[in-house]
Amino acid sequence: MANFLDAYSIQNWLESCPQGYLEDTVYGHQTGQSEPDLVLENETIREDAIRTTVQLVMGERCALAASSGLINLAPDHASKRFLATQTLDEARHVEVFTQRLYDLGVKKADLESTLENYVNPNLAAFAGVLLEKVDKGDFIAGVVGQNIVLEGMAFSVFEMMHAVMQEINPKFAATLSGTIADERRHVGFGENRIGSLIKEFPERKPDIEKMQKEMTYHMLATFASQFSQTTGAIEEARSLRDDANQEAGVEAQKQVWNGTDLMAAAPEDMEKVLSDSVLKEFKVRLARIGIDYQTPVAP
Ligand SMILES: [Fe+2]
Ligand SMILES: [Fe+2]
Repeated sequence: MANFLDAYSIQNWLESCPQGYLEDTVYGHQTGQSEPDLVLENETIREDAIRTTVQLVMGERCALAASSGLINLAPDHASKRFLATQTLDEARHVEVFTQRLYDLGVKKADLESTLENYVNPNLAAFAGVLLEKVDKGDFIAGVVGQNIVLEGMAFSVFEMMHAVMQEINPKFAATLSGTIADERRHVGFGENRIGSLIKEFPERKPDIEKMQKEMTYHMLATFASQFSQTTGAIEEARSLRDDANQEAGVEAQKQVWNGTDLMAAAPEDMEKVLSDSVLKEFKVRLARIGIDYQTPVAP
């Protein structure tokens, strides 16, 4: 347990996160960075950015509720302390993505109605499955649902968005890269802590596999509807980019992520590369903790 204690201690968190990659950041990015004019001035692109960011806020609110709920369920103090650091990370993620909504022009008074308006019902269902486990006091299922399934998903979504954004929106990309570093730590904790608990309580496996299957179903449904809603904004952004490139006489840049050029791929191909990447990660991570991945029916 020695390595586990060191790697997931508050001391390590302080050194690597607030005193490390977050040092001198403001809401997760450098001072002075702002949303690009293209996002702020084009209504289709701005609304799409708001819709996407709403899903991030809602996902992070779920992680905040789950990680804080898991503190009192944890069977050992090292896990409680780690989950306390994770709770602060998730609260920060909620804050930075909420701040992005304000940066995109959402009024503070309209925050909750904006979230309600744009939240994907499939994502709400996904969160509901996890939070029910936490509310019932089920630590093992709660950690698998949060630190393997929710965060495995978040990790790939953020990575893909980071690949898209790094050239066109360095401010948002910076916010994402700090979040990715946090999620990597959270996923690592899930794998390290929960494997031994599942060995100890193998009778819990069927229930956990059922939860994973349900969450995966809602996740895939979320991806399908998000990508179908984003098609117009992608086309708009690409046509503006092509015009600008033509004027400047330069070639369109490529941004290849897991074998797909995100700057040119059709939205359904982007959905496929994201789904494939997340499911591949799920299988690897679940196998490491002794859980057999269950394939849901196609949404
Ligand atoms: Fe998070
Ligand atoms: Fe997280």
